[in-house]
Amino acid sequence: MSEIINVTKIYLPDLEEYVSYLEKIWKSKVLTNNGTLLLELEQKLREFLSVNQLYYCSNGTIVLQILLKMIERESEVITTPFSYVATTNAILWENHTPVFVDIDPKTYCINADLIEAAITPRTRAIMATHVYGNACDVVAIEQIAKKHNLTVIYDAAHAFGVTVHGKSLLSFGDYATCSFHATKVFHTVEGGLIVANDPTKNEELHLLRAFGHRGDDYYFVGVNGKNSEFHAAMGLCNLPKVPALIAQRKDVCDLYTELLNWDKLQRPQLVEGLQWNYAYYPVVFETEEKLKEVFKVLGDKNIVPRRYFYPSLNRLPFLAKYGIEATCPVSESIAPRVMCLPLHAAFEPKNVREIASLINQTL
Ligand SMILES: Cc1ncc(COP(=O)(O)O)c(C=O)c1O
Repeated sequence: MSEIINVTKIYLPDLEEYVSYLEKIWKSKVLTNNGTLLLELEQKLREFLSVNQLYYCSNGTIVLQILLKMIERESEVITTPFSYVATTNAILWENHTPVFVDIDPKTYCINADLIEAAITPRTRAIMATHVYGNACDVVAIEQIAKKHNLTVIYDAAHAFGVTVHGKSLLSFGDYATCSFHATKVFHTVEGGLIVANDPTKNEELHLLRAFGHRGDDYYFVGVNGKNSEFHAAMGLCNLPKVPALIAQRKDVCDLYTELLNWDKLQRPQLVEGLQWNYAYYPVVFETEEKLKEVFKVLGDKNIVPRRYFYPSLNRLPFLAKYGIEATCPVSESIAPRVMCLPLHAAFEPKNVREIASLINQTL
């Protein structure tokens, strides 16, 4: 049997490098609770991203929950139907109501032109995803948020290392979050990040991440969103490699773009001025049947792409339990037809050629 080619392959640093950090942990005997390695990683992330305030946390879901906890209880949160389920789950988990606004047919990010019509007296926030690392219309969203006094949270789980006109995409919105899950362009095994662009909330965020208390002073309900020295160590190993990893991913993506038959496929258009991180390679088929056919053809060769993002989140089966019904025609049209092709930094050109050729033949 030939080797399985998965949608992604996890990057691991040299073991000796990781072990050199383990030796530091053994020496300090500090395993968690804002140790030296975590503080070093936070400082290096600040420099890498050119942002002022950030919080390294345990995953990319808890960071959304922490930020949603800061919003008035039981609010409406305007959100995208085209994202990973964690975006919607976090809103429901925090007892808010997700209000789905359809996506832009070009960028696949939330359609800013439709947001104002969805605002009600209960709306307190907009939580939108920079999907596949492409940028939401951050300028239009900021204007709407200012006009209606809404908090803007960007789920930037896919957008680490992305810049728009030279500025980190994470520096837009009141807050932006990242996931540092093992499958991401930059990972710390598990991990998440809050970038806080509103400096007045730093103390609150610090406490929310760590049980809501400082010593014997208890302020409000917090959670355990901290991360460990072991995770920070993985981050310290991986962070310097990110530019090279992104460059390698670019070569893989460029080859897909060159080889695939674009008469029969479409893909999201990156916004102007975007320096992308090549996090995913999504392609959209003409029909869901074609997508399934391609899945079968690739599967027969042990090639495993992923239906990412499917279903459109406004069609999640458990929404009925919350009395939520929404129609998002663009997202509902794209979600059943989109497939993310295998992609990682060390992906060999011969594999890209094989996948592109199998897809083109099936089309
Ligand atoms: C858009 C989006 N938001 C949130 C998450 C959750 O991140 P984590 O797995 O780190 O909790 C993911 C995970 O892939 C994601 O794609």
